[in-house]
Amino acid sequence: MKERLSPTEFLDCFSSRLPIFQEIQTYGRANQVPILSDAAGRALAMLVGLFRPERILEIGCGISYSTHWMLTASESSQIIALDTNLVRLGLSERFLTRSRLLPRVELVHQAGLEYLTQSKALYDLIFIDSTKKGYAELLDECYKHLSPEGLIIADNIFFGGLMFYPDLSLVPRNKAGVRQMQNFCARASSHPRLDCYFLELGDGLMVARKK
Ligand SMILES: C[S@@+](CC[C@H](N)C(=O)[O-])C[C@H]1O[C@@H](n2cnc3c(N)ncnc32)[C@H](O)[C@@H]1O
Repeated sequence: MKERLSPTEFLDCFSSRLPIFQEIQTYGRANQVPILSDAAGRALAMLVGLFRPERILEIGCGISYSTHWMLTASESSQIIALDTNLVRLGLSERFLTRSRLLPRVELVHQAGLEYLTQSKALYDLIFIDSTKKGYAELLDECYKHLSPEGLIIADNIFFGGLMFYPDLSLVPRNKAGVRQMQNFCARASSHPRLDCYFLELGDGLMVARKK
């Protein structure tokens, strides 16, 4: 027996995660493909489990780690999962086939903003985990496509820690992204029709609920 468990190993003693989680994580680590942190994954699963959103839009599904967290938290939820990277969408299809969850997912090769501006559909939950530079412009479109009392959840609001350096001269390479993320957080928190919560989980999680 191990002498000391990590928090994840301890928590895993009380939850029955499908083996596919480990497979996706191993693939992500080996191939430098970013996936959701386990802390953010657990929070996302908790919110999906409590709110039971019927229709979910996921912007930036990558290789479907976050998709699996949401699908396994609520059996009645259906997900439209977008990504601009065709290779990752192919891997998502493969992982979702293996977990037998593919029938509940529509994988779409399109950018979030473009998809939303062409769609009239409403979603009960919109999960944003795409390019950080695009968050600010997504907010209004997401709000328009949110059903009453729907949730917007956004990962990476710390932008890998870059947000902790408000003096932009310290982060010259990512100035635009930092400005966009500052703008996104400020607009979400001051939005008159959103109740907004910022959580110090993983790389920072924002949860906003339509009033
Ligand atoms: C951090 S990864 C997503 C990780 C994924 N949510 C997971 O936990 O497995 C970000 C993904 O967003 C995709 N992406 C980037 N810009 C996008 C956009 N404008 N619309 C949709 N997807 C985008 C990238 O191709 C990448 O796969």
